[in-house]
Amino acid sequence: MSLIDQLNQLEQEALAALERAADLTALAEWKSAYLGKQGALSRLSRGLGALPAEERPAAGARFNAVRATLEQALERAEAQLKRIARQHAFEADQVDVTLPGRAPAIGRLHPTTQMLRTIYSVLGEMGFQVWESPEVETDEFNFQLLNMPPDHPARDMWDTFYIDTAPGEPTLLLRTHTSPGQIYAMRANAPNPVRAILPGKCYRYEQVTARHEMQFFQVEGIAIGEQISFADLKGTLVAFAERLYGKGVKTRFRPSYFPFTEPSVEFDIECFLCGGAGCRVCKHSGWLEILGAGMIHPTVLRNGGYDPEKVSGFAFGMGPERMAMLRYGIDDIRWFFSGDERFLQQF
Ligand code: DAH
Repeated sequence: MSLIDQLNQLEQEALAALERAADLTALAEWKSAYLGKQGALSRLSRGLGALPAEERPAAGARFNAVRATLEQALERAEAQLKRIARQHAFEADQVDVTLPGRAPAIGRLHPTTQMLRTIYSVLGEMGFQVWESPEVETDEFNFQLLNMPPDHPARDMWDTFYIDTAPGEPTLLLRTHTSPGQIYAMRANAPNPVRAILPGKCYRYEQVTARHEMQFFQVEGIAIGEQISFADLKGTLVAFAERLYGKGVKTRFRPSYFPFTEPSVEFDIECFLCGGAGCRVCKHSGWLEILGAGMIHPTVLRNGGYDPEKVSGFAFGMGPERMAMLRYGIDDIRWFFSGDERFLQQF
């Protein structure tokens, strides 16, 4: 058989063998069998030298053409196998885009924040603007300017945490109530009328129990101007209670004592758990206390820069955690600072 015929036969055989190569390993084997240094094509090429000189160019050209054909066929087969492999990988890896998604866990506002925002919006509609005041206070602002000189017995109601200060520096403490904010709001506005609420965090040196926390929020309120009377205080608080606890909610004022107000009251709403009949939550009184209030003491007005002969005002202070407890029937104040999601997810 002539060398050209052998080359033609090899080409047919190699292309047929390539058809049968089913994976990349088989392709590699095929490549070394036909195109490798020791492969069939190389072996045939050794016969070139033995040909008569006039036949050599044609045989050489044919030889190169077969090599080119086989190399191209190999490239195509490789590409084809890779395409198939990729296709398989995609299929194995398929995402079902019709599956319903997983609902993202959406955060929510802490019940105290919710209650604070309700309070802002109700009192905001009545013209009270929100003020901020510091959590770290001086003894002067937390007590003295609120009509509690050093050694005043009422200080016993508000024991707190003190901050170390150098001798001669003013005593610093964590405020026990938002009432010192009254002084800032007054000094910023006197002698003009003011209606403000002062929300914020307060601290007390307390044994932590179901009913007492050492940290909690308060919202302070003041209204000062000419001829503001106790009737204004009553009207404001009753309207406020109706907005929070429903129209027609029964309320009552009880005489009380705070050094910074005169007269002082505590404000109750009828217990909505038992409708006033008496239960565990209202301690069988039928009433729930929601805040302390009163007419601002002349000394406090003076400390805030007002002339008590010309203006008068009322003040109140409430605890949003306590109000949320009453609203949702929460029986332990410690939940509010527990960070427990089982608690928080309910609001
Ligand atoms: N500061 C009082 C407390 O923490 C609450 C309070 C009572 C505030 C009467 C007031 C008020 O403004 O008039 O117990």
